[in-house]
Amino acid sequence: MPKIIYSSQEKYLESFISKPDGLLGEMEMFAFENKIPILHRHAAEVLEQFIFLSRPNRVLEIGTAIGYSTIRIASLLKKKSMIDTIEKSDDNIPIAENYFERSGLNKKINLIKGDACQIMPSLKRKYDFIFLDADKEDYEKLFFYSLMLLKKRGVMFVDNLLWHGFVAAAKIPPKYKDSTNHIKEFNKLFLSNDALMSSIIPVGDGIGIGIKK
Ligand SMILES: C[S@@+](CC[C@H](N)C(=O)[O-])C[C@H]1O[C@@H](n2cnc3c(N)ncnc32)[C@H](O)[C@@H]1O
Repeated sequence: MPKIIYSSQEKYLESFISKPDGLLGEMEMFAFENKIPILHRHAAEVLEQFIFLSRPNRVLEIGTAIGYSTIRIASLLKKKSMIDTIEKSDDNIPIAENYFERSGLNKKINLIKGDACQIMPSLKRKYDFIFLDADKEDYEKLFFYSLMLLKKRGVMFVDNLLWHGFVAAAKIPPKYKDSTNHIKEFNKLFLSNDALMSSIIPVGDGIGIGIKK
């Protein structure tokens, strides 16, 4: 697989990162053992910085998986703030519910079960922060729904925009071709949309950050 940054720099940065223990450490291990993709640790730290800085009242996450990023966000929210998180996988939902219960943060977390492409058009209240981390073929649709649901000066945080490096690779393995094309199209949209101040930073698997004008 191509890399996002050189291995030596990656190793250097890895040497600084704190490995979570307790529940988050257990979740990282579970995700690794069961091949469930979760946010890269560096990307999770940047996500936490943005949450801490922007102090959102309402957060929407699209793609809960086992709830790793949900718990990292919820633990930083203000007293009355909430996160809505959407997940469609019947396998992942009970695992996430169990972790939410164990985290002691389930009062701050509202898990919405189903496909975000169907759920988002029915959401009425706007959000201060939206984290998009779902299937790549859904990104374009979910981007437009997110834009409608994001408040002015709200933050859109999108994962996987460098897609293991494939967006800029000369050769792409057949199984990654479609998803890579989806991401490449998405990146054009994300970086050129007039409603957002946006950029992609080479952290983790590539993070998109867009602020609504
Ligand atoms: C990369 S994982 C999310 C990881 C999680 N955000 C984290 O960092 O801990 C993507 C998840 O999104 C879910 N998903 C993908 N497309 C979706 C959609 N359209 N609606 C709801 N869930 C979706 C998948 O089932 C999967 O569990």
